[in-house]
Amino acid sequence: MLQTAIEAAQRAGRMIAERYPSGRSITVKGFRDLVTDADIASQEIILELIQARFSDHTIVSEEARGREISSGYTWVVDPLDGTTNYTHHHPVFAVSIGVLKGGEPCIGVIYDPLRDHTFVAEQGCGARLNDRPIHVSRAASLENALVGLDWGHSNEVRERILFFLHHITPKCGTLRVLGSATLAMAYVAAGWLDAYFHMGLKPWDTAAGMLIITEAGGRCSTLEGEPYRVDLPGCLATNNLIHDELLAVMKGNDKRDPSS
Ligand code: IPD
Ligand code: CA
Ligand code: CA
Repeated sequence: MLQTAIEAAQRAGRMIAERYPSGRSITVKGFRDLVTDADIASQEIILELIQARFSDHTIVSEEARGREISSGYTWVVDPLDGTTNYTHHHPVFAVSIGVLKGGEPCIGVIYDPLRDHTFVAEQGCGARLNDRPIHVSRAASLENALVGLDWGHSNEVRERILFFLHHITPKCGTLRVLGSATLAMAYVAAGWLDAYFHMGLKPWDTAAGMLIITEAGGRCSTLEGEPYRVDLPGCLATNNLIHDELLAVMKGNDKRDPSS
């Protein structure tokens, strides 16, 4: 399954990268929500490979029908994460493939085709980037932390993010918005971001990233601090060391004045 997930993500990612410099057909599928010919073509490549090798497994893929996670193996696919970036020729996007067993992630692969970065995790076996082990950052306090976030599509989600930013911005090192939830999670796993949060996520945004982060020594929870599950929209992913501090700050419970 791991080899198939890697092969599918890389094959689809290379196709996406080849089409990247040229024009593309864009369809609006929802409010601030786009799909391109590359999303669909990527999904076809991935699903064909999975179906050929694991015909009895369930597949949940963003641009396909069928959204139910099964009690057996479920492949959760984001064929192109960062579609808005892609339509703007903004070079931050990825392919994400996670496999769940009984709803719990057991395999995760995120492939960034422009940088040829393959982030991989298998339950209990650690996380790797291009075959080298990766670990979350050692940042022990929020003060110098690099915190990632994403805006999501709805104004309701954006209002809530603004509320959290009101608390976090004065307390952290600085903030980044990548526009690809899956890559941001991979970056937490690699230690390139100390934390990441979002509250408008779908299972295909987090199925792979959640496992890669935990296998790299990090932690994922809901924004209230409960254990995160891929069917929940809100996730806080960190290097573990700053998790509780960030949760407290997000709740407005942190009384420390960073300038004192
Ligand atoms: C989106 C990206 C974006 C996040 C959105 C997602 P898509 O995925 O991950 O960073 O803010 O919530 O929907 O639509 O490009 O696959
Ligand atoms: Ca997508
Ligand atoms: Ca996505």
